[in-house]
Amino acid sequence: MSETIIQVRGLVKVYDELIAVNGISFDVKEGQVFAFLGPNGAGKTTTVEIIETIRTATSGQVNILGLDIKKNRTDILRRIGVLPQEFSSFDRLTVRETVQYYSRLFKGEPDIDELLELVNLTEHRDQLYMNLSGGLKQRVGIAVALVNDPEIVFLDEPTTGLDPRARRDVWDVIKGLKKSGKTIFLTTHYMEEAEVLADDVAIISKGDIIAHGTTSQLIDQYCSTIHVSIRGAGPGVEEVAKNLGLTLENRENGTVTIEASNNDQVVEILNNLKARDIKYDGLDIRKANLEEVFLSLTGESLTTGGEE
Ligand SMILES: Nc1ncnc2c1ncn2[C@@H]1O[C@H](COP(=O)(O)OP(=O)(O)OP(=O)(O)O)[C@@H](O)[C@H]1O
Ligand SMILES: [Mg+2]
Repeated sequence: MSETIIQVRGLVKVYDELIAVNGISFDVKEGQVFAFLGPNGAGKTTTVEIIETIRTATSGQVNILGLDIKKNRTDILRRIGVLPQEFSSFDRLTVRETVQYYSRLFKGEPDIDELLELVNLTEHRDQLYMNLSGGLKQRVGIAVALVNDPEIVFLDEPTTGLDPRARRDVWDVIKGLKKSGKTIFLTTHYMEEAEVLADDVAIISKGDIIAHGTTSQLIDQYCSTIHVSIRGAGPGVEEVAKNLGLTLENRENGTVTIEASNNDQVVEILNNLKARDIKYDGLDIRKANLEEVFLSLTGESLTTGGEE
């Protein structure tokens, strides 16, 4: 078992009347990717910036790298890296100059070219920041977060607003950071990002952690439905579902989906299709995802406001 590197206990943050963080407790393990997953306004940035010693808590304890955030601010800042939610930099500096500029703010001089390689920016090193795509700008931000060779890297919604390709490129960079031994604290409202990257996921909603575990644990605990989708099925599929006492989710575009609650039921569905000689064009067996976990816990969707 890896060591606890961040320990949060009873953390509260109140802004005027609003309780933004409502007494949360959790641990982050060294070397893991920890995802803080939640919709807009859930309290992710507030929490993460308290841990980074940028904001102050109303009450509660945070220990990071064995240090108390109230007493060891300078030491902590030296050993962590931060990509803030709204990262932006100097328009008229090149990629290389940007990373060099931030490196000079720290005493240790990193190998800039090695750093650019780590975030896959070598071929863009001489481009001006203002001319970069959103995904490249975020990768510059990640490079900046690494100039002090931090033990923990905080990435606050690193892929929000990026297209799927650019998002995957950032994911590759994050996977590389994990391989190099860094602990990653990732906040996101993309369930797929948490599923792909995280060893451990805490779901936050309205200032509370409503579930915490690995993706599989969360799915097994809160949403164990298995969706069996049968494409282009002949008549009689409805009968199969009815006989087994299972819900027929829908029949759309020629696809019927039956909800099974365990593997044995999936096998029963398949056996019944065969026994009745029901022909079909394709079969897709899918477990629930974190989006459905969130929906089943809160009755709301993770991605609100149509932002994709
Ligand atoms: N400085 C502040 N003063 C007053 N209210 C604030 C402040 N910062 C955040 N809030 C409020 O606290 C709540 C939590 O905000 P926070 O930014 O932590 O959420 P978030 O999960 O990071 O959301 P997003 O996905 O939009 O980044 C929101 O209702 C927000 O409006
Ligand atoms: Mg935020």
